[in-house]
Amino acid sequence: MSIYQRIAIVLLALFSFTVWAQNTAEPANDGKAFQQKLSDITIKPYHKPLEATGNQASCQLCHGAKTPTTPPNDDNCLTCHGSTDQIAAMTEPKSDEAHPEPNPHNSIHYGKDVPCSVCHSEHQPSKVYCNSCHLFKYPNMKP
Ligand code: HEC
Ligand code: HEC
Ligand code: HEC
Ligand code: HEC
Repeated sequence: MSIYQRIAIVLLALFSFTVWAQNTAEPANDGKAFQQKLSDITIKPYHKPLEATGNQASCQLCHGAKTPTTPPNDDNCLTCHGSTDQIAAMTEPKSDEAHPEPNPHNSIHYGKDVPCSVCHSEHQPSKVYCNSCHLFKYPNMKP
């Protein structure tokens, strides 16, 4: 399944959810400051195409909620990005590299179990968690 087919499925699911949500009561007003914080939030350049789905839908794509308060669940990232096995396969060191860096998505300490947002932030600069102890170079890590 291509990433665009996955996006189509997510959008379809969101549409059904919206129809369902209209039949349930709206939550109480969250307050002006909170609404301002939400509308000030920016997303990464590589995720800009997701904004074409509409602002509220684009928040829901990751958070599953219209008014997010907590970091999203990895399952929502994986709806578009595939499985943790596929993610690990993308960054598997090539055997012909002289000094390959270890796979950040499948490490000797944590396997494939580190939540995505520990390294890939969305509303602030990303950081490679491994480098709080190591000095690995990851040229493909987007800031
Ligand atoms: C609705 C679909 C969708 C969701 C949900 C989503 N992404 Fe993405 N993501 C994309 C698309 C499309 C791209 C740009 C195409 C690409 O590079 O694969 C992208 C790009 C990225 C990239 C840059 C890839 C590169 O080439 O360097 C990272 C990192 C990433 N996403 C991480 C995440 C994380 C972490 C989450 C969850 C918090 C997430 N994504 C949720 C669709 C999604
Ligand atoms: C321990 C830190 C860490 C975690 C946790 C992590 N990543 Fe990454 N990710 C990286 C690094 C570092 C790179 C760049 C690798 C490189 O330069 O070869 C990367 C690259 C990527 C890319 C681009 C790969 C490519 O080669 O084009 C995607 C997509 C991605 N990560 C998605 C995810 C998703 C989805 C999750 C959660 C399931 C996740 N990552 C969890 C550190 C992490
Ligand atoms: C591509 C995935 C993605 C999209 C789209 C996205 N977020 Fe997030 N959001 C994250 C991640 C990952 C975190 C974890 C903290 C971080 O990375 O900054 C987060 C954290 C948050 C938090 C909690 C901040 C905290 O203190 O932990 C709020 C609030 C939030 N997002 C609001 C929004 C709003 C509003 C939108 C729509 C405009 C949105 N997000 C769209 C991925 C996303
Ligand atoms: C809290 C500190 C810490 C973090 C975070 C951490 N490591 Fe380590 N790592 C260590 C220590 C300590 C050793 C043992 C060093 C030794 O035996 O020489 C080690 C050893 C290793 C080794 C084997 C020795 C080597 O250098 O070849 C690899 C590979 C490795 N870590 C990869 C990672 C990856 C990938 C991440 C991120 C997903 C990570 N580590 C995160 C502390 C950490």
